[in-house]
Amino acid sequence: MDYVLSNVLIGSQEIEDRVERLGLEISNLYKGEDLVVVGILKGAVVFLSDLVRFINKDVKVVLDFMAVSSYGDSTRTSGIVKIIKDVDASIKDKHVLIVEDIVDTGLTLSYLVKLFKERSPKSVKVCVLLDKVEKRKINVEVDFRGFEIPDDFVVGYGLDYAGMWRNLPDIYRVEKCNNEILKG
Ligand code: IMP
Ligand code: MG
Repeated sequence: MDYVLSNVLIGSQEIEDRVERLGLEISNLYKGEDLVVVGILKGAVVFLSDLVRFINKDVKVVLDFMAVSSYGDSTRTSGIVKIIKDVDASIKDKHVLIVEDIVDTGLTLSYLVKLFKERSPKSVKVCVLLDKVEKRKINVEVDFRGFEIPDDFVVGYGLDYAGMWRNLPDIYRVEKCNNEILKG
């Protein structure tokens, strides 16, 4: 079984408008504060790079990154999270904003929130571009949310299938295709 691009679910202009709003909300909440923005590699990279440019200069932003992998196949998560790369800076007494591409079951984010809260930060909040609300297995508080989407597998704007399609400016649905049919 393979996947092919289907229709555009969210176009680049709609994404940009929403990301700008999120940047404003974040700017208002953290005005005058220091903020460590932690992007979760690799999916959040495109979103994060646009988002931080909409956070205004009244917030003192430091960027950091974390890489995690959840054991499972390409389209399903197992909930067991392995840290591949931790943040570089200490987050003790700092405001932390975790930036993720998508929340699905919630297992990855709830693990990360718990991990950061154990490190004595001033606060921990979560910003996700996409939220598949109906797939949630574990409750996780999402403080800033781009879009709620249905239970479809999506790629583009940082999101991948098997490492592919992160570069696309729009967010697409993908659909299963049977290789045998294509070959035939
Ligand atoms: P969760 O732990 O089930 O919430 O899964 C979150 C992770 O699964 C995300 O960080 C993505 O890497 C991946 N993921 C879930 N749904 C999608 C999707 O539709 N497209 C691409 N990646 C996805
Ligand atoms: Mg991810």
